[in-house]
Amino acid sequence: MSGGIAAYKACTVLRLLRESGHEVRVAPTEAALRFVGAPTWEALSGHPVTTSVWTNVHRVAHVELGRWAELVIVAPATADLLARAAVGLADDLLTTSLLTATCPILLSPAMHTEMWQNPATQANVALLRSRGFHVLDPAVGRLTGADSGSGRLPDPTDIVAAGLALLAPQDFIGRHVLVSAGGTREAVDPVRYLGNRSSGRQGVAIAQRAAERGARVTLVGANLDVVVPAGIDVVAVESAEQMGVAMLGLLPTADVIIMAAAVADFRPSDVSDHKIKKTSSAPTAIELRTNPDVLTTLTAARTPGQIFIGFAAETIGGDELMLAGRDKLQRKGCDLLVANDVSGGQVFGQSTTAAIIVDSRGGLLAVPSTTKIDLADQLLDVVATWESEAG
Ligand code: CTP
Repeated sequence: MSGGIAAYKACTVLRLLRESGHEVRVAPTEAALRFVGAPTWEALSGHPVTTSVWTNVHRVAHVELGRWAELVIVAPATADLLARAAVGLADDLLTTSLLTATCPILLSPAMHTEMWQNPATQANVALLRSRGFHVLDPAVGRLTGADSGSGRLPDPTDIVAAGLALLAPQDFIGRHVLVSAGGTREAVDPVRYLGNRSSGRQGVAIAQRAAERGARVTLVGANLDVVVPAGIDVVAVESAEQMGVAMLGLLPTADVIIMAAAVADFRPSDVSDHKIKKTSSAPTAIELRTNPDVLTTLTAARTPGQIFIGFAAETIGGDELMLAGRDKLQRKGCDLLVANDVSGGQVFGQSTTAAIIVDSRGGLLAVPSTTKIDLADQLLDVVATWESEAG
């Protein structure tokens, strides 16, 4: 990072990267250390921190760092850092490392609006972009003082997402991936509904990774508890019926269809148009009728080349889970099915999961406990292989 007040937000960038399993080393400028000191960076990264090429000279730190990195993120990138990088100055560890790194480099500028809009800064950014640097546009909002405008460091989660996208293989370019996520709600009356515990986290993780791997992604989201990253088209729905209509409408242009949503199997037969009161005549039971199965409707309308992925949330494990998965795969007419054991609260709302992926060609992949992002990647790997094997 370079020396801007937003350096404190880089602590969160570092933490998020480490939480997603990456090793991080920090190369601050001298000015950056005036905002956040070396002990903070050392503790958070678990590595010693220096600004200088004159420390550990025998290890030729700038060459070592440049070769070691698979991704460089400069956040915040000040106007001064952009200028130095644009002309290729190499007077500290950060700028020398920028010259030795051969991996993708993401610069996340943060400065006052006037500095950002200055023709000198804009020319430097244009030059850096033309040389293959990835430069994020700064966010608009509150700046250091009471003023606001363009120049704010983007949210750390957006910086990390943009960085990790640069690491992703671009194997879904040209494909339209349609994902459903979340849990549907079936109205009882204007106030109450029957719902389920799905947060939408797994479906959103799949949508995120598919987008990062180059796909055009549409997410049909039912009552999501999680934020959808930028760059994904979202269609918000509430009930199973609305989800069915939305998915069927989007189906013709989709290449990969992933039903990760927890769709209610039943809905109240009668929806009261007024709030049911706690009177002596209040009902003691809710009569239910069966909802159509969205996935089965979609697979019945399939066109050649489309690939359908279902999910199965079960409360069984081992061989029983595998058999239930195979049975559901066949009944729903999908190509792949991700089955997991959700008993004991081990999946819903959590950031980790474990699953088996069964396919209609008899294949089986067991994915032991991992993050939902990693499961998303493993599923997309299977989809990519599936398509290449189909020719
Ligand atoms: N699904 C669907 N429409 C429904 C119910 C489920 O499209 N009305 C989809 C889910 O999105 C998921 C798959 O079917 O991809 C399996 O969902 P699940 O609830 O596990 O299966 P059910 O068919 O409901 O079977 P059961 O509840 O008896 O296990």
